Amino acid sequence: MSSDFATRAKELREQVNFHLYRYHVLGSPVITDGEFDKLFFELKALEAEHPELITPDSPTQRTGSDLSEDFAKVKHPAPILSLANAFSEEDLKTWEERNLKLLPAGTQLGFTLEPKLDGLTIVITYENGYLVQAATRGNGELGDDVTANVRTIKNVPLKIPVDPNGPKAPERLVVRGEVMFLKKDFVALNKKQAEAELPLYVNARNTASGTLKQKDSRITASRPLVAYLYAVVAASGIKWDTQWDILNNLRDLGFSTAPHAEYYPTLSDIIQQLPTWESRRRTLDFEIDGVVLKINDVKIQAELGYSGKDPRGAIAYKFPAEEMTTKLLGVTANVGRTGRLTPTAQLEAVFIGGVTVTSASLHNYDQIAKLDIRLGDTVIVKRSGEVIPYVIGPVIGARDGSETPILPPTNCPSCNTPVIQPEGFVDTICPNLDCPERIFRSIEFFVSRGAMDIESMGPQTVKILIDNKLIQDEADIFTLKPESFEGLEGFAEKKIDNLMKSIEAAKTRPLAQLVGSLGIDGVGGVVAGLLAEKFGSLDAILNASVESIDDIEGIGPILAEGIAAWFADERHRKLLDKLRAAGINPKNEAKVAAGDGLTGSSFVLTGTLPTLSREQAEELIESHGGKISGSVSKKTSYVLMGDTPGSKADKARTLGVPIISEADLMAMITSGGTK
Ligand code: IVH
Repeated sequence: MSSDFATRAKELREQVNFHLYRYHVLGSPVITDGEFDKLFFELKALEAEHPELITPDSPTQRTGSDLSEDFAKVKHPAPILSLANAFSEEDLKTWEERNLKLLPAGTQLGFTLEPKLDGLTIVITYENGYLVQAATRGNGELGDDVTANVRTIKNVPLKIPVDPNGPKAPERLVVRGEVMFLKKDFVALNKKQAEAELPLYVNARNTASGTLKQKDSRITASRPLVAYLYAVVAASGIKWDTQWDILNNLRDLGFSTAPHAEYYPTLSDIIQQLPTWESRRRTLDFEIDGVVLKINDVKIQAELGYSGKDPRGAIAYKFPAEEMTTKLLGVTANVGRTGRLTPTAQLEAVFIGGVTVTSASLHNYDQIAKLDIRLGDTVIVKRSGEVIPYVIGPVIGARDGSETPILPPTNCPSCNTPVIQPEGFVDTICPNLDCPERIFRSIEFFVSRGAMDIESMGPQTVKILIDNKLIQDEADIFTLKPESFEGLEGFAEKKIDNLMKSIEAAKTRPLAQLVGSLGIDGVGGVVAGLLAEKFGSLDAILNASVESIDDIEGIGPILAEGIAAWFADERHRKLLDKLRAAGINPKNEAKVAAGDGLTGSSFVLTGTLPTLSREQAEELIESHGGKISGSVSKKTSYVLMGDTPGSKADKARTLGVPIISEADLMAMITSGGTK
């Protein structure tokens, strides 16, 4: 049995050493940090259980180093240590139990719970309030002097207290924290790279590290790093008794401290908080890879001392890995409602953060080329929370030469039309407006929750309706009648009933919701709301000039042009005509309340209208300020006439009352005036 452990330990030592070499020497890792951690911690755990297996060359016997020859060295006033890791509630309980055994009976432990910031450690020294030195962790004893670079980080105070009325600065204060990019800043940095046609950065932490270690601090200054502080390494002239005190005092002096840190009196309080942190992770402005638990009482921390190189008084609880490597087996192109072809990666199954992933997004073909992702590559896949997993990039070091480039398809996979890539755009597009996949995706989007929200009309129903030629566009949905479904398999009375009810309910959706459902590129809920507010009706938007759209704050010139072009398109105009004819013509209430087109007019209806039922027509007229009357008199403003009219039409002619059609009525409503 023990020889099994010895074999496994040897295997792990070899693997970990190999990956350390790939990472630090060759600069081309072949596994993710998460995968590396797994191997490393398995070895560490095995060695903790069987100390006789520890060999002098075991990678656990050295702490990593990020020292570089380009910088002067700084000796840290105390070792800059790392943390032990926990991966489960059980691990945390074991950690607490072990500590309690080392402490006097009856000791009560309180804890701080802080985010485990996914950046790189920085150690900053202040003397008499002035920043005098900043260093990387280095090998834990010596670090690289990066003072000039750290001075460029905007939220690192050059002098404390930042507020002249704040607490007095200690004579000497050496603080420890983490330097990193906010998520939005990293995205913006990559956007700039893309605009300059430079390669994209793959990993925020490595990029932060590279930025901090620039020889020219002007480069560091040009990239918006941030620093959050969470510990005191050494100090004179202060007495801060608890970690909670430390965080508060650091904040009072003007440092940014780890956001959302909290104090909890027991471990079970902390355990209760873990799910909150796992879901909060996605909403934070910065990357975290877990949380850190620290025993609050600084004296108890000191009493507990160290286990190997890790302090016993704190532990990192790591979230399940979100990034893993796997093989890219194939790429398929999906056609979206705007014709955009989105490449999807087919992957060798891989377990990420508790879920088996077999496909992932590849964004667009331009990105594939920029990142040089090839078929057969080992790729890094990220999955965070509910978000669709995506391919971060290839592991170049894992190539064996058999990988092949991925090219965008030359023809649409759905309708075989040759694809186009408009000048200056990253996307490959199927330009065919009749492409069946585009039509399906548009309608699927139109009915979806968040769009027109036609409950009980899921993608499958949409597909069946299209296949059976019951609908060809969005407007056709509103002309469906219970009889339309006759003979269709799977459409029982109840289902039809539900469908009709939800279609009916969708007829009264507000203007912004309708505009946002049309699938206009770049027009989501917010922009749709702006358009509805400014123009008040479909017709007004339809006739709006590019300039008047561009005038709206929040809509830029390119989007304005796109919107105007969409509404100018003959096909879209026809669609809107059909929608209006089906009674879908919402107005922005605020805009239409006064002086609406039909206010003061009275209507008499006769005959069968082409699309509206009598009830719909009456409702439409009334909702636009008009009145309905049962008989024609001199006072009647209009007679609305359909097929096979009755005597009312004759009377109108006799009295000289104008006779109008359904289309005329629509025109009156949308133009906001009389015919
Ligand atoms: S405390 C002895 N607190 O995580 C004090 N570390 O895996 C040890 N880290 O090397 C550090 N956020 O670079 C601490 N709120 C936090 C942290 C944190 C991120 C990093 C730190 C450390 C690594 C350990």
